[in-house]
Amino acid sequence: MKIEAENINFLDTIEAAQSVEELEQARVGLLGKKGEVTHLLRSLGQMNDEERKLKSPQYNKLKQTLEEAIKEKREVLVNREIENRMDSEWLDITQDSREINTGLIHPVSRVTEEIVSIFSDLGFSVAEGPQIESDWYNFDSLNIPPDHPARQEFDTFYINPGDDNGNDSISPNVLRTHTSPVQVRFMENHGAPCRIIAPGRVYRSDYDLTHTPMFHQIEGLVVGEDISMSNLKWVLIEFCKAFFELESIDLRFRASHFPFTEPSAEVDIRCSWVENSLVVGKGDDWMEILGSGMVHPNVLEAAKVDSNKFQGFAFGMGIDRLAMLKYGMPDLRSFFENDMRWLKHYGFAVEKTSNLYDKLSG
Ligand code: PHE
Repeated sequence: MKIEAENINFLDTIEAAQSVEELEQARVGLLGKKGEVTHLLRSLGQMNDEERKLKSPQYNKLKQTLEEAIKEKREVLVNREIENRMDSEWLDITQDSREINTGLIHPVSRVTEEIVSIFSDLGFSVAEGPQIESDWYNFDSLNIPPDHPARQEFDTFYINPGDDNGNDSISPNVLRTHTSPVQVRFMENHGAPCRIIAPGRVYRSDYDLTHTPMFHQIEGLVVGEDISMSNLKWVLIEFCKAFFELESIDLRFRASHFPFTEPSAEVDIRCSWVENSLVVGKGDDWMEILGSGMVHPNVLEAAKVDSNKFQGFAFGMGIDRLAMLKYGMPDLRSFFENDMRWLKHYGFAVEKTSNLYDKLSG
């Protein structure tokens, strides 16, 4: 009788558990090492045979009953907990997702990549040079001696370290005014023949709609024993067709003068302004995109290349100008103002190739 009463008591403890945790506490209290029922089972050892015969089956039955009750109760509680969670933790799939701020590729970086990839297809490799350049590489080696009037045309930023006594007779460094010094640096190190492009930053004291004090150029240099002006023309036309994604392109080769090329030509591309955007290939306007020519023998000699054996062509293009033209951006100055609205509008998503081009033509 007693055991049955206890049995009910024990079952009540199990029934009272409101959570899996409480149930576990109840189980430990009953069947754990120091549990009440475990204690009962242990007490069998102290009993005489007769008593043990009577109690043993009862206790074991009790243990079994409780174990089953716990198992059942656990299932009920686990299910209830799942239901509770499903009621309280719900997801509103109609809600707008949180805005994710990813960075964009600046048009200049993007266009540099495009240009490099087109020239790679034409067999050019990429070279680099320093932005703080010596007087020699920026001017002298390029056939521009100190008293040459062309030095004035470049609006150069000079960096003159002087010495500790304020003596500034030391030949100054400059912020390179063009990427042409890379021509000489490359030939000095690698000799001829060669076929390279050299993209990078250049600096001139100039500021208006199409000029900023820092801008980007890409230099091209091809030197060999049999290189002519017609090779130059072909390379530039092929490049422009690929870059602007046009079947044919209207380029104007205008006779010009650079101390480091002879003959020299500036190249303009046909374009027009439509609703404050630049459109390439149509219209009556021309935009200058590059300077070019046959490398002057003095430049080859400055780079220790035999000018009797080798000749070559070179060009220097404005990367920012090309970006303005391709993506219809009217003001060069906004390129470098770091205005988030401008960057968001003209920037390129990392995974997309020419989203702006699609926007413009679509
Ligand atoms: N360096 C010239 C400039 O910046 C461009 C140029 C490069 C011209 C190579 C001829 C040959 O204007």
